[in-house]
Amino acid sequence: MEYTTLGDTGMTVSKICLGCMSFGDPDWRDWVLGEEEGKELVERALELGVNFFDTANMYSNGESERILGEALAGHREEAVVATKGYFQMDESDPNSGGLSRKAIEQELQASLDRLGMETIDLYQIHRWDDETPITETMAALDDAVRRGQVRYLGASSMWAHQLAEALHTSDRAGYDRFVTMQNHYNLVYREEEREMLPLCETEGIGTIPWSPLARGYLARPDDEVDATIRGETEEHLYRHPYREGGGPEINARVEELAAEKGVKMAQIALAWQFHKERVDAPIVGTTSVEHLEDAVEALDIDLSTSDIEWLEEPYEPVHVSGHE
Ligand SMILES: NC(=O)c1ccc[n+]([C@@H]2O[C@H](COP(=O)([O-])OP(=O)(O)OC[C@H]3O[C@@H](n4cnc5c(N)ncnc54)[C@H](OP(=O)(O)O)[C@@H]3O)[C@@H](O)[C@H]2O)c1
Repeated sequence: MEYTTLGDTGMTVSKICLGCMSFGDPDWRDWVLGEEEGKELVERALELGVNFFDTANMYSNGESERILGEALAGHREEAVVATKGYFQMDESDPNSGGLSRKAIEQELQASLDRLGMETIDLYQIHRWDDETPITETMAALDDAVRRGQVRYLGASSMWAHQLAEALHTSDRAGYDRFVTMQNHYNLVYREEEREMLPLCETEGIGTIPWSPLARGYLARPDDEVDATIRGETEEHLYRHPYREGGGPEINARVEELAAEKGVKMAQIALAWQFHKERVDAPIVGTTSVEHLEDAVEALDIDLSTSDIEWLEEPYEPVHVSGHE
């Protein structure tokens, strides 16, 4: 395994983060693994040297957090545990979502309880909350750090001007600031290169992209995208503009380069991420041990500058996707 420090912090994480959206409760999404298979994934990840795990309160309505917590029993200190809050957890309770002080305090405590942990290493806001002043959110998050419930704070998909405002708010007040950005970024969705990634670089914010394989679109030829349960059933895969802006041509080039190098398409898509200096650790989603092992092997793939340019060349701007 290769390791890096996360953004400007001194905390070391594996260059692969295991995304835990893919296990929890199969009733939540058709492609989600149940408890035992989820625990097997975490166990294998630890064996492979992966120490970085990303979940959220909303994944399988809390089941992902609960299973991750149990799977990490006996490994708590070596693991870096990241979770998120924002989306409404209880339809009948408007305060179970958003980023008000009340929502953050209650949802953070619920995450800690499900994880069975006293402290979360990285607590992230899943989205921006237009209804809550950012000063209230940053004060509540800073208090959580002071209480010892959270070690570091992170943000996820939002506009770059919003991240800049949040950083400015915490800096002015002397609060802990966000140290990471979990954003939507892959070979067929590169809009983050315009504003967000340069901002993160200037501000020393670590980046941990979600859906680095474009939800599986970059793991198979274009005409086989619906060949898996996820491909067949996951509406987001089709809502994101992966097939626009040169997507099918990029998909074909990933396939061609993979064949040339004797590796899998998913490994080329991940190798591209590993070659991006601005990326700390992509958050890989998988429902199989084999695919997790593929991801780890992809760390050894060498891409030349011309390989990278060739893969990137067909990309054309697409509409912003992942946050509005
Ligand atoms: N902050 C946010 O708003 C946000 C949004 C989405 C996701 N996330 C985070 O990002 C993580 C990853 O998201 P994602 O699952 O959408 O990411 P992804 O890694 O882009 O896509 C996962 C898909 O790729 C397939 N795949 C992975 N490795 C493969 C391989 N070697 N060969 C063939 N197919 C392969 C998986 O299939 P198999 O299941 O068959 O392995 C799965 O269908 C989530 O778990 C979550 O932690 C965050």
